[in-house]
Amino acid sequence: MQMCALLWINASRTSTEREGERERSLLRLRGREEAGKRDESSSSAESFRNSFKSALRARIEWRSFIHHMSSPSTTMMRVSWRRAIVGSVENTTTNNRRARQHEKTKRKTTTTRHATKCQTSQTASFSPKGAKISGVGKALPKKFITNDDLAKLVETNDEWIRTRTGIGKRHVISGDETLTSLAEEASLEALKMANVNPEDIDLIIVATSSPDDLFGSACLLQSAIGAKGALAYDLTAACSGFVVGLVNGMHYIRGGGYENVLVVGADVLSRYVDWRDRGTCILFGDGCGAVVLTATSKVEECSLLGFDMHSDGSQNHHLTAKVCGAKAGKVWQSDSEAGELTSYDNIGMNGQDVFKFAVRAVPMTIKESLKNANMQPEEIDHLVLHQANQRIIDAAAQRLGLGDDKVVSNIAEYGNTSAASVPLALCEAVESGNVKRGDVVAMAGFGAGLTWASCLLKW
Ligand code: UT7
Repeated sequence: MQMCALLWINASRTSTEREGERERSLLRLRGREEAGKRDESSSSAESFRNSFKSALRARIEWRSFIHHMSSPSTTMMRVSWRRAIVGSVENTTTNNRRARQHEKTKRKTTTTRHATKCQTSQTASFSPKGAKISGVGKALPKKFITNDDLAKLVETNDEWIRTRTGIGKRHVISGDETLTSLAEEASLEALKMANVNPEDIDLIIVATSSPDDLFGSACLLQSAIGAKGALAYDLTAACSGFVVGLVNGMHYIRGGGYENVLVVGADVLSRYVDWRDRGTCILFGDGCGAVVLTATSKVEECSLLGFDMHSDGSQNHHLTAKVCGAKAGKVWQSDSEAGELTSYDNIGMNGQDVFKFAVRAVPMTIKESLKNANMQPEEIDHLVLHQANQRIIDAAAQRLGLGDDKVVSNIAEYGNTSAASVPLALCEAVESGNVKRGDVVAMAGFGAGLTWASCLLKW
C-alpha cells in the first residue's frame, strides 16, 4: 500500500511536475525493490504468483503481460505493476473477507426481505402477459453503392453479383450518419405506429455488431429518443441478433413486469468491410429496423407462437471481424501498439461454408419453431429470412415447401444489412399491407458466431 501511495500523482500538477515526481517515485521504488530482493522468501514468490493470477482476472492479456514484465525497458514499470497488482490482491483478499463477514451477519435479514419482495411481485407487477408487435420502423443511409460502382473498385460485375446473390445495391453511412442516428429514426417511426410515448418504454434492446461505442449504443439511443425510464442494452448475435432480441423482448413482457419493449436491429458493417475484397464487399450494407412490443391484456393473445435459437462457436472461424492481431496471436510490444491492436480487423468470411451452413440451418430451425408451436410449414403466410443471399432464401423456402408468394425479399435494394435485415424486411412487408392481422410470420436469422435463430409470430 505504501508503494502504491508513492505512485499516486496529484492530477492538478503540470505534466512536467507529474513526470518528475513519477520518475523520483519510481527510482525510490526501484531502490527499495533492489534492497528488498535479498529478503524475498517463499511468501514473495507466492505474492508474485498472485500478481499473475490477478493480472489474468483483470483481463490483462497473458502473453502481453509476460512479455511486458520481462522486457528490460519496462523494469521500472514492472516494479510498479507488481506492487500495484500485489496491493490489489491484498486489498481484494481483505475486502472479500470483510464482504463475507458482512454477508454472514446480513444473510438472515436479506433472505426475509427477498422473500417479501417476491411475494409482493407475484401478486402485483409480475403477472404473466401476452406480447405483440405494435409498431415497426426502418431507416437507411442516404448514400448507396451500386454494383457498377463496385465494379470500378474490384474485379466484379453487375451480372455476377445479381446472379450469385440477388443484390443490386447497398446503402452505406456517410457524413454525420451513425448507427445511433439510424436507430433513432427507425425507433421513432415504430413508436409512432405503436402509439407509444418514448417515456413509456421499459426496455430497449439494440441488436448490433457495430455499435458507435464499444460499451453499447442502446443507451445512446435511449437518450436520443428520450426514453428516460428504460433499461437499455446491446445484444450481439451478429445476423441472428434481431430474432434473438425479439424473443428476449417478448419474454420480458410474457414473464411479467414490462409493458413496452423496443427491439432494434441495426448494423453499419461498411465500417469493417474490406473494400478490396470482392468476396465480401459486394454483400454488406448498412441499415436499421425497429419494432415496439406491447403487452396484451390476455396471455393467450401473445403473438409469439414458437421459437428456436442456437450457437456453434466451434465454427466461429467461418465468419469473423476479430480484434486486430488476435488472429496471429500477436503480442503487444508497446502501449502505442496496444492501442492500434484494439481496433477490429476487416470482415473475413468463408463464403461457401457459410452458404452451406445457412441452407441447412434455416429450414431446420424453422421446423423446430413450428414443432414448438404444433404447426405445419403450410400454415406459414410470410417467410422473413435474414437477407444474406437470394439463393439461400430460395433454397430455404423450397425445403419448407413454400412458394415465392410467401417469401419476403428486399435484398436487391439493401444487400446484407446483418442484424437489420430481418426487421427491415418485416417493416416493408407490413407497410406494403402484405402482412395482415392473423397472418403467421416465420422469421429466421443466421450468421457469425455461428448463430442461428427463428421464431413464429401471429400478426
Ligand atoms: O450474413 C452472414 C451470412 N453470410 C452469408 O450467408 C454468405 C454466404 N455465402 C455466399 O453468399 C456466397 O458464398 C458468396 C456470394 C459469398 C460467393 O458466392 P459463391 O457462389 O459461393 O462463389 P464462390 O466463392 O464459389 O466463387 C466462385 C467464383 C470464384 O472464381 P473461380 O475460382 O471459380 O475462378 C471466385 O473467385 O467466383 C469468383 N468470385 C467473383 N467473381 C466476380 C467471387 N466473388 C466474385 C465477385 N465477382 N464479387
